[in-house]
Amino acid sequence: MAGLMLAQAPSFQNPSSAPSSIDKPAAVSPAEMSINSAFWGSSIKLNCSPSHALCKASKADRRAAGLSARCDATKVMAASTAMSGTPVRSTSILVVGATGTLGRQVVRRALDEGYEVRCLVRPRPAPADFLRDWGATVVNGDLSKPETLPAALVGIHTIIDCATGRPEEPIRAVDWDGKVALIQCAKAMGIQKFVFFSIHNCEKHPEVPLMEIKRCTEKYIVDSGLNYTIVRLCGFMQGLIGQYAVPILEDKSVWGTDASTRIAYMDTQDIARLTLTALRSEKADRKLFTFAGPRAWTTQEVINLCERLAGQDAKVTTVPVGVLKLTRLLTRLFQWTNDAADRLAFSEVLTSDVIFSAPMADTYVTLGADSKDTTTLERYLQEYYTNILKKLKDLKAQSKQGDFYI
Ligand SMILES: NC(=O)c1ccc[n+]([C@@H]2O[C@H](COP(=O)([O-])OP(=O)(O)OC[C@H]3O[C@@H](n4cnc5c(N)ncnc54)[C@H](OP(=O)(O)O)[C@@H]3O)[C@@H](O)[C@H]2O)c1
Repeated sequence: MAGLMLAQAPSFQNPSSAPSSIDKPAAVSPAEMSINSAFWGSSIKLNCSPSHALCKASKADRRAAGLSARCDATKVMAASTAMSGTPVRSTSILVVGATGTLGRQVVRRALDEGYEVRCLVRPRPAPADFLRDWGATVVNGDLSKPETLPAALVGIHTIIDCATGRPEEPIRAVDWDGKVALIQCAKAMGIQKFVFFSIHNCEKHPEVPLMEIKRCTEKYIVDSGLNYTIVRLCGFMQGLIGQYAVPILEDKSVWGTDASTRIAYMDTQDIARLTLTALRSEKADRKLFTFAGPRAWTTQEVINLCERLAGQDAKVTTVPVGVLKLTRLLTRLFQWTNDAADRLAFSEVLTSDVIFSAPMADTYVTLGADSKDTTTLERYLQEYYTNILKKLKDLKAQSKQGDFYI
């Protein structure tokens, strides 16, 4: 039986964190990463530059050091060619991060459009039954356990990667080490299309670890030689429900800022629809798109909209941007709060008077999609409040109790 060995993922170089944490190797021994499978005809070793400076080094530097992503990709390419011959249906998709906000919409949409959808899901006490109920196949796997990945990719044509580390988890383990392992595996196993979700303007904020990781991952995918589509996103409308819509309805405090940052939020259903459109179009091969909602909103405008639709004034606690910056500096002083500081760095960008939006006209033309089909924030929140207020009214009609909370 043949073996496949995934080499250790290169560590992500984060300029703002201590070298000791940067160079920490992935906590998986080579022995643990050996996988046997009847599907592979040869023993393959995927090489990834062990000097880690993949993203930072110039091409010349990398050439001089004899280690380039391209060079590694060439080896991988030869390996995957050797393995070709297992036909896969172009409708077979693997969704990674299928239980997430965007991932589940991608699964739903893909199933509706007739794709055969397999979901890579971490083992959990409460299984993700809804994915099976919808008609998807669920396989257990974990990006931070590379040995679990190859089996999930067998028979797959396209990977749609919607995963990202949950807030309570270290960013690098999933978003860098895990993604590098997934990309290497995809290349080795001849995956024919790889869709990756990134963050708008990530290249402009190297001080924010997640944005720098996204930029590096984009580059890693491009250099890998995989056929890819990269989609940069600005923000999800779904995130506004828990942050503003529900607390305002419940008369609870919401956080505001004094910044004039604008974000062009998008409904994840629209992101899923456009992503599936891109999947069918050769024009989206080896392309990077930015998907943005129809209008960019400040926090205050979102709050005003929720107040109007909920028929209720918001209790707003305003956090001055200066306080946010100071908190980040303080959290940096303590080793154990590094992750909190990394996440605050992101909040800092979101409060730095930038506009997270991009023109979409060319994208709609390229994808042959109609901008009128994209949900506006007014319509999205209007539908949410109409549904929720109707449910509350029905509940009240069935009970003598006067007050209901959601
Ligand atoms: N949210 C935004 O506003 C926003 C903005 C720009 C870009 N994006 C990007 O859009 C994509 C989707 O984001 P999202 O907000 O939908 O994410 P999310 O709701 O936080 O979901 C994350 C998904 O990743 C999975 N995951 C985490 N660690 C994993 C691991 N070790 N192995 C396998 N799966 C793992 C989670 O599984 P579990 O259920 O097991 O935790 C979950 O399914 C991400 O790439 C994100 O960076 C999001």
